[in-house]
Amino acid sequence: MTSGTQTMNKDTILNVEHLSMRFGGLMAINDLSFQVKRGDITALIGPNGAGKTTVFNCITGFYKPTMGMITMTQRAGGQYLLERLSDFEITKQAKVARTFQNIRLFGGLTVLENLLVAQHNKLMKASGYTVMGLLGLGSYKREAEAAIETARQWLERADLIDRADDPAGDLSYGAQRRLEIARAMCTGPELLCLDEPAAGLNPKESLALNALLNGIRDETGTSILLIEHDMSVVMEISDHVVVLEYGQKISDGTPDHVKNDPKVIAAYLGVEDDEVEEVIHEELDGSAH
Ligand SMILES: Nc1ncnc2c1ncn2[C@@H]1O[C@H](COP(=O)(O)OP(=O)(O)OP(=O)(O)O)[C@@H](O)[C@H]1O
Ligand SMILES: [Mg+2]
Repeated sequence: MTSGTQTMNKDTILNVEHLSMRFGGLMAINDLSFQVKRGDITALIGPNGAGKTTVFNCITGFYKPTMGMITMTQRAGGQYLLERLSDFEITKQAKVARTFQNIRLFGGLTVLENLLVAQHNKLMKASGYTVMGLLGLGSYKREAEAAIETARQWLERADLIDRADDPAGDLSYGAQRRLEIARAMCTGPELLCLDEPAAGLNPKESLALNALLNGIRDETGTSILLIEHDMSVVMEISDHVVVLEYGQKISDGTPDHVKNDPKVIAAYLGVEDDEVEEVIHEELDGSAH
């Protein structure tokens, strides 16, 4: 731990310990440890190629880490070692959902259908995995109604309700980003991992995204782990920031702590150590409101 500034009175939802991921000769993640506190928006930041998406891929079961432990602790106390589970089990049992750096939606399905597909597992379980179950009026019908209601609520929150019957591929880029988040939320996660949700958004779409994320944190209590390049977004919405460079943690603390950390400024702007002082002043002047 490089910082004592983290809030100690909140409990930990995700504990990443000594995580390493090797691709052939490349150590993409090298002995990384950090924690995500329940109810926080935690940002994972760092220059291109720092290993941010690789961390997400390890947390969400897309990669098996070379080493390390990732412990998810649910609200009710249940604990899951994510490195031992498949991506499917991580969503369903551990209750961790994610979005991707490159949007992955079913472009030909409608906005509403995308949200129903996300709840497919719940529906199939209610059917008892039989045709009779699907045709019957019992638990499947109740679950189907519940799935539509969940989808409707998330369409409202994501400001997409007017687009419910349009093909997802017709939405603007910012609206597609919000739909991806709504889709992830329809699986009922306790931890939501977002890989660069603000990338490529215009200022208006950025504001809508911030409102959606703040609403998710404040109204559902879902913890958020967010990869983000845009420092203004990070400073605006995160409670806690972890900074990676070359697969290692170089800073960890509040947005203010991290923003003023010379190591972070050097890493981000690619400047030499002796130029850092100068850059800090420029940054501070530039970011003064
Ligand atoms: N499947 C893979 N096979 C080989 N190398 C990989 C693989 N995935 C990632 N890498 C490498 O690991 C390093 C970290 O990549 P990663 O995508 O995690 O970075 P990032 O911080 O998300 O970058 P960006 O900001 O550009 O999205 C890079 O050098 C990348 O080329
Ligand atoms: Mg990435």
